[in-house]
Parts: sequence; C-alpha cells; structure tokens
Amino acid sequence: MNDVKIRGAGLKDDARIRELLKDAGLPFEDVTAHLHDFLVAEDNSTIVGTVGLEPYGDIALLRSLAVEASHRNKGVGRKLYDGVVAHARLKGVKRLYLLTTTAKRMFRDLGFLDVDRDQLPDEIRKTDEFQKLCPETAVCMSKDIEKDIYYVPRSMQNLIKSVPGANMLAVPLEKAMLTYFEIAPGARFDTHNHESEQITYVIEGRLVFEIDDRMVSVGPGEIIAIPSNVTHAAFAGNEHVRAVDAWSPIRQEFVQKE
Ligand SMILES: CC(C)(COP(=O)(O)OP(=O)(O)OC[C@H]1O[C@@H](n2cnc3c(N)ncnc32)[C@H](O)[C@@H]1OP(=O)(O)O)[C@@H](O)C(=O)NCCC(=O)NCCS
Repeated sequence: MNDVKIRGAGLKDDARIRELLKDAGLPFEDVTAHLHDFLVAEDNSTIVGTVGLEPYGDIALLRSLAVEASHRNKGVGRKLYDGVVAHARLKGVKRLYLLTTTAKRMFRDLGFLDVDRDQLPDEIRKTDEFQKLCPETAVCMSKDIEKDIYYVPRSMQNLIKSVPGANMLAVPLEKAMLTYFEIAPGARFDTHNHESEQITYVIEGRLVFEIDDRMVSVGPGEIIAIPSNVTHAAFAGNEHVRAVDAWSPIRQEFVQKE
C-alpha cells in the first residue's frame, strides 16, 4: 500500500465518494457541500478510500472515514487519518471532534477521548451529521491535534493565490511557519512590514528585495534574513521564482481558512 496517494477531492470524485460511504454504511447525503474539505486515497488512479472535514474556526468535525472493503487493514485508513490531520492543521484547526458507531477503539488508539454530547461545542452540535445523519447511539470523541506532528505529501500541497502572479502554501505550527511561494516574472509584493521575523531561501529564479534605499538581489541557493518590523518590498525579475520562507511568530493571515 506504499504507493497509495492521498489527495484533495474535487467534483469529479463526488459520485465515487458517495458510493464508498454508502457501502461503508456512513452518511453520504450532504457530501457535495463539503467536498472541498474531503480527501481521497488513490491506488493506481482508483479511489479506495475517503475522509472529510468540516472546519469551524479552530475546531472541526472529522467525518466520513471509509476504506473500500477489499483494501482494509493495509494502512489506508491510517494514511487518510494522517492526511486529514495535515489538512486540518493547514487550515488552522487545533481540535477534532467525531461521531462513530464502529471505530471507537481505532480512534481511542489514535488518542481520541470520549466527550459527552452536551459538552460538544455548538458548531459541532449544529452539523447535519450530528443533527440528522448519525444515529443517537454514535459515540462522540475529541482530540487536540496541536501538539501532533503532521506530514504534507506533495499530492496535498495545493497552492492558493497570494499577490497577483504569486501562489503559496503556508504550513503553520504554534510558533513558527514555513511558506512556499511560486512567483511569476514581474510579480511584486508592495512595501510592507510585519512583526514576524522572515528568512527567505530562494530555490529558483531571483527575488529582489527593496529595503529603504538598498536593493538586495537574492538568487538560487541564496538567503535573506529580515528582522521584525523592517519595512521592505520584493519583486521577481524576468524569471519564474520558487522560494521558501521561515516565519516567527506565524503570519496568521497566511493560514488557509477557505
Ligand atoms: C475504519 C476504517 C476506515 C479503517 O480503515 P483501514 O484501512 O482498514 O485501517 P488501517 O489498515 O489503516 O488500520 C489502522 C489501525 O486501526 C485498526 N482498525 C481498523 N479498523 C478498526 C475498527 N473498526 N475498530 C478498531 N480498530 C480498527 C487497525 O487494526 C489498525 O491498527 P494497528 O495500526 O494497530 O494495526 C475501515 O475499516 C472502514 O472503512 N470501516 C467502515 C467505515 C467506518 O466504520 N468508518 C469509521 C466511521 S467514523
């Protein structure tokens, strides 16, 4: 199962996800509305498992974990769980809630603890899963994922828009953040400053930083370190740029809420 890949779901996966959930006896009626927070497990281009998230600020409902019967007990469920934890952390989620009738032991082994229904936050209580779709006998469980490591495979690295011409991925922990940028020739980050310290490593292309009346051109394999609150601008020259940045404290506005 080493080559099973976890990736974000799209509209084209809707029918297959519903089929998997139906076969596993899990609610599937409301999947479409939450599809952008679903992941699928693919084995040689065949979808063999799925999991979903409903994020509400820094908490989320983990739902719809299902693996096709013929692929169970080979680690796919665990891979999907690890994937959904990464997806949740990329969105700034710190605590997961779930309802289960069938996999209480598995989730307990993963560190989830039982929660009384009346202790659940309103956002979770209001979900369709809680209100209409899951049986009364389902057990509620919860886990703080803020102290867990998370792993973001290439297949889950979906870049989002930054300034015009630039796309980015932000990977937050509590005190530090890493960002990865792909920047088109000529794209510009206008003059700004931030409390966060910034260390930028250019992988490919050239980024020119303007700091007061000084220009610093940072090429492949080169690094610029910018202390807290130093006003600067940056732009890409004639080449496509790929770069990573380390930030501390984290840039909350980079956390991919939507
Ligand atoms: C639950 C489910 C997703 C697990 O998928 P899977 O690919 O078989 O899981 P894995 O092979 O990754 O197993 C992960 C671990 O959980 C354990 N496990 C798997 N299913 C379990 C279950 N129903 N109850 C208790 N433990 C379970 C495995 O033994 C394994 O433990 P190990 O790491 O100590 O060996 C799969 O059985 C399934 O689709 N079930 C039907 C739908 C369902 O019940 N989903 C949960 C709803 S909230």
